[in-house]
Amino acid sequence: MTYQMIEMHNQFPEVGIESIGLYVPRYFVSLDDLAHARGVDPMKFSVGIGQEQMAVPPPDEDVVTMGASAAHEALRDVDTSRIDTLIFATESGVDQSKAAAIYVHHLLQLPRRCKSFEVKQACCGSTAALQMAMAMVAQKPDRKVLIVAADVARYGLGTAGEPTQGAGALALVISAQPRIMKLESEWGSYTEDVMDFWRPNYLDEAVVDGKYSIKIYLKALSESWAQYTEESGLAFADHHRFCYHLPFTRMAEKAHRQLVKLTDQPEVHPEHYEDALHYNRVIGNSYTASLYIGLTSLLETTESDLTGQRIGLFSYGSGCMAAYFSGIVLPGYREALRPDRIAAQFQSRHRLSIEQYEEYYTHELPRDGSRYVTTAHDTGQFRLAGVEGHKRLYERAESLTVRAREPHIAVAM
Ligand code: COA
Repeated sequence: MTYQMIEMHNQFPEVGIESIGLYVPRYFVSLDDLAHARGVDPMKFSVGIGQEQMAVPPPDEDVVTMGASAAHEALRDVDTSRIDTLIFATESGVDQSKAAAIYVHHLLQLPRRCKSFEVKQACCGSTAALQMAMAMVAQKPDRKVLIVAADVARYGLGTAGEPTQGAGALALVISAQPRIMKLESEWGSYTEDVMDFWRPNYLDEAVVDGKYSIKIYLKALSESWAQYTEESGLAFADHHRFCYHLPFTRMAEKAHRQLVKLTDQPEVHPEHYEDALHYNRVIGNSYTASLYIGLTSLLETTESDLTGQRIGLFSYGSGCMAAYFSGIVLPGYREALRPDRIAAQFQSRHRLSIEQYEEYYTHELPRDGSRYVTTAHDTGQFRLAGVEGHKRLYERAESLTVRAREPHIAVAM
């Protein structure tokens, strides 16, 4: 299908992605180091799971600071007075009541009239936010909606889930002036009450039945694809590339094989999904941000021009809810992306030893309301300065006079 034909197919007002911001913590663990420390063959992590590194946030970063840094990047060329709503999607929230969105709203000095709230449904929360944002923009095309997806994927030390940890944040500006991708209006959805992955309020780590989760993920893919194709009349061949939710990159291969089988394609073409995996392979899982980091990787690392191509997107959130939808890459999309900024982030990261990673992992803020000041680590634009009276205190990282270049653990004061 040509771009013009695809345009005719869509009667929905032009709503889509105007800009993207990505933030990755400055510290990472090599999965080869982790494999050696845990007595596992490194090939299991690099080939069997498809991960090379996992991002680790230092003690003065959390979903608020990561999300604010991603949003800061996404808003660089955007008129913030038009940001009417900020939706923060996360499953590693910092408060049971106050939305992480409010902290971000303050850090970015967004207009007081901008509504700000948090949504949750595991890794699919960001996609629920996206669908909500599309409806809001279609209803009032002069508004822009900022979506922030940020998470820290945490499983127990030494567990099977440990190599599939990671952290990161991705922000999208959704508007009626999309510069990167037009989002299409036909969606397929799937919901089923299952216990494949969850985190009770009293636990800091997720509980996961990994093998069951893979099974349910694949079932949800088939079901949501069926509804999506019924509603849109589109077939596999109408899609040029495919992005999948990535708890680990090998999952994309499993998912794509299933879609190819389901739609009776003669063979799997890895180029249909491979470019969407580069960033996640060195970031790890970032739950709500993961699918959209995959999309950013596809758009920024595919050498050929993607203009006019339809991208299929599959979002999965354990528990579970899933969605299949699609978007069309717009002319000039490359000018709206900043692969140089992301490459610079990756290049400036610090490699943690396993001992340093375990110190970061076990670091805890006081839970008794006492005052605590975090040591400055290498962070993005914003950092968690400390806590006092059960309040989290955030600041702009530039205000610091001393920036630690090497990993340090915060000390209580
Ligand atoms: N070289 C190459 N591949 C190897 C290997 C080696 N030396 N050793 C094992 N592998 C392969 C296995 O064959 C398997 O491949 P397969 O999936 O094609 O069968 C893969 O590595 C994983 O190993 P396995 O032993 O089956 O799994 P595990 O018990 O280590 O668990 C996960 C893997 C992914 C299930 C686990 O890390 C997990 O639960 N992660 C969390 C997932 C999640 O977050 N889900 C919820 C959101 S969707």
